[in-house]
Amino acid sequence: MELTRDEEDILKGNQGNAAAKSMKILVALGEIYGAKKLIPINSVQIAGVSFHNLGDPGLEYLDELAKDGRTKVTTTLNPAGMDLKDWKKLGISEEFASKQHKVIAAFSKMGVITCCTCTPYLVGNLPRYGEHIAWSESSAVTFINSVVGAYTNKEGGPSAIASAMIGKTPEYGLHLDVNRVPNIGFKVEADVKSLPDFGALGYFIGNKGKGKIPFIAGIKNATLDELKAFGASVVTYGSKPIYHMESITPDAAKHSMPSEVITVTDKDLKDSYDALNDVFDEVKFVSLGCPHCSIDEIRRIAEYLEGKKVNDGVELWIATARPTKVLADIRGYTEVIEATGAKFACDTCMVVAPLKGRFENVATTSAKACFYCRGKNKMQVKLGSFEKCLDAAVNGRWS
Ligand code: F3S
Repeated sequence: MELTRDEEDILKGNQGNAAAKSMKILVALGEIYGAKKLIPINSVQIAGVSFHNLGDPGLEYLDELAKDGRTKVTTTLNPAGMDLKDWKKLGISEEFASKQHKVIAAFSKMGVITCCTCTPYLVGNLPRYGEHIAWSESSAVTFINSVVGAYTNKEGGPSAIASAMIGKTPEYGLHLDVNRVPNIGFKVEADVKSLPDFGALGYFIGNKGKGKIPFIAGIKNATLDELKAFGASVVTYGSKPIYHMESITPDAAKHSMPSEVITVTDKDLKDSYDALNDVFDEVKFVSLGCPHCSIDEIRRIAEYLEGKKVNDGVELWIATARPTKVLADIRGYTEVIEATGAKFACDTCMVVAPLKGRFENVATTSAKACFYCRGKNKMQVKLGSFEKCLDAAVNGRWS
């Protein structure tokens, strides 16, 4: 890879240890993937923030970098292992909280905006169309490549931090137009009309198009929340972190339907639901906000829950970004939701929090959460609409 004089200088250690370490990571990555050069970026999102995933070695690595490392571009974080303020309410131990706060302190020292969310594009970290960035979390990467049309690979935690320190990323993969061309088509004849329907569609397309870039025709309309649910699901179940949806995503018009085309019927959608849902009636945990809830989703939850009570045997979490919760506070949604016994889980989510063994099952609107709650947290799962999940929280049963 060709480096500029300044980049060579950084690599030699003349601009500090953290910068040198970061440059080594970027150069190694670039050489593995055949990048010719580093390109400037304006935004970073770092995953691998939960102490549950990092452990003590991860924390030591961050502390070392924070000694002289400072970010060069707008940088935010993926969800942490707990609500950074109200962690006790979510049943997090003192020991875990203390370690998690040290992780956040190290990022803060580096100059990172310690807003922990997988929807940074809703709360101030929003790149423009065509801009090169370095983001980590798969749903956020898929949304930003597809719906916004920015350019990013799915970075690992260390490479995202390295890009934040240098303000650059190696030019390969999804930074190049040639690698953003769809190579499998889907003609959707199924009636896709709700958040979990988009998740189930993502399950179907991700599984059929593993390692490929889907081009999707037949969706007449989709809200921002439905697109974030679809992107989270399609990449979880196997596709590359970019898709093109005819008449909906900005780059779809540049492409045409690939030669391999799969039709998606109502039966395919129903079969996807069947594959995603386990069999149980009594619900223990309901978690909404994967990806993190938008303010409109919180409005829907508040309106549906108003005057109701969460069942004694159920815990209901609303996962969202802290700035989104501030909007909910201002509008009065928080008061309505918390009066029912539901809990906000800001800065975290049901997948990155240390929940293994705490709940035997979960009901959710998210097909992505089904995958991780089942695989990582060993919970049985139910996928359904907001209304169905909230009814389960109130009645304690899935109906
Ligand atoms: Fe976000 Fe956690 Fe889901 S990071 S996409 S809420 S698994």
